[in-house]
Amino acid sequence: MSMSEPESKSQPQTGSFWSGRSVVVTGGAGFLGRRVVRLLSDAGAVVAAPRSVEFDLTQPGSAEALLAAHEPTEVIHLAANVGGIGYNLAQPAPLYLSNLLMGTHLIEAARFAPSVEKTILLGTVCSYPKITPVPFSEDNLWDGYPEETNAPYGIAKKALLVHAQVNEQQYGQRFSYLIPTNLYGPGDKFHPSVSHVIPALIKKCVEARESGSDHVEVWGTGRASREYLYVDDAADAIVRAAEVHVGADPINLGADREVTIRETIETIARLVGFEGELRWDATKPDGQPRRAVDGTRAGDQLGWKPAINFEDGLRNTIDWYLANRDEAERPPA
Ligand SMILES: NC(=O)c1ccc[n+]([C@@H]2O[C@H](COP(=O)([O-])OP(=O)(O)OC[C@H]3O[C@@H](n4cnc5c(N)ncnc54)[C@H](OP(=O)(O)O)[C@@H]3O)[C@@H](O)[C@H]2O)c1
Repeated sequence: MSMSEPESKSQPQTGSFWSGRSVVVTGGAGFLGRRVVRLLSDAGAVVAAPRSVEFDLTQPGSAEALLAAHEPTEVIHLAANVGGIGYNLAQPAPLYLSNLLMGTHLIEAARFAPSVEKTILLGTVCSYPKITPVPFSEDNLWDGYPEETNAPYGIAKKALLVHAQVNEQQYGQRFSYLIPTNLYGPGDKFHPSVSHVIPALIKKCVEARESGSDHVEVWGTGRASREYLYVDDAADAIVRAAEVHVGADPINLGADREVTIRETIETIARLVGFEGELRWDATKPDGQPRRAVDGTRAGDQLGWKPAINFEDGLRNTIDWYLANRDEAERPPA
């Protein structure tokens, strides 16, 4: 765990449930994974957070070796190949293949591992059809093709949902499948090759303020919308699902607030203290036109709702970035 890892604001779940249980969190060293590992450890679980250099889950046999080494009761599969819109445009083939392979290997390894009682899978809001009623309902997940830049990643993740559903149906394998909206928070990645929208916009505004620039350039028109989920809220929902929920029907995790890209950067600029002009580059893609999810199922089935409001979450993220620039901007390995 890095020295600069931000303090988690989430509370552990019921300690007695997790006490002594062995959990494997794939991707446990990642942005979301570190928060999940922390919550589970605080609740008394014995947590393994394998790195890709030890267990490359795209490789056959690796997932089996991982589960044999730790004999977990729960597997929380967070390992993934992810990035923002620029990365999605540049790397569609590995985005599709690596996410599909990792999940496929992991699901099958969990099926045959005698210790595993439940597998938690993470989907993505990028799986939703490009045009679908807002807020997105889990029932509309299959009603159309995803926005093109998201499709390779979104469809790979959606194929894993089918895999979970057929294995549940045919073999009685136990799953939860959660679909978080765009995550943000302390510990996020700020290197331009992989950053998502919030870190990318924070970095632009901070650098413009520092250099005295009178403007920042922003991709798209600003009219697209997103729903942002604070990383600790997502971790809390995942641990809760692992504890209380079984079923391979997808569950949205959202923050119940749709925010345009324009409002996103205006809020960031205000919090950062950048007062210059926002110049929109409409030749660059907006990505999906609107994104907001219906969180009813998460409330009903997990008894979960998000705790952190958008502005507080942004403030925490900016504070962490300013205090940890080297770590935040480190290029991906
Ligand atoms: N970030 C978001 O906005 C967002 C939104 C919705 C859903 N999600 C989902 O949430 C999960 C976590 O995302 P994140 O943002 O925390 O990602 P992240 O920071 O990029 O972490 C992903 C982790 O996956 C591991 N990994 C990558 N390739 C691997 C491989 N071949 N074998 C084994 N492990 C591998 C990496 O481990 P090493 O560091 O050891 O290489 C990395 O730590 C993913 O499933 C993602 O799809 C994320």
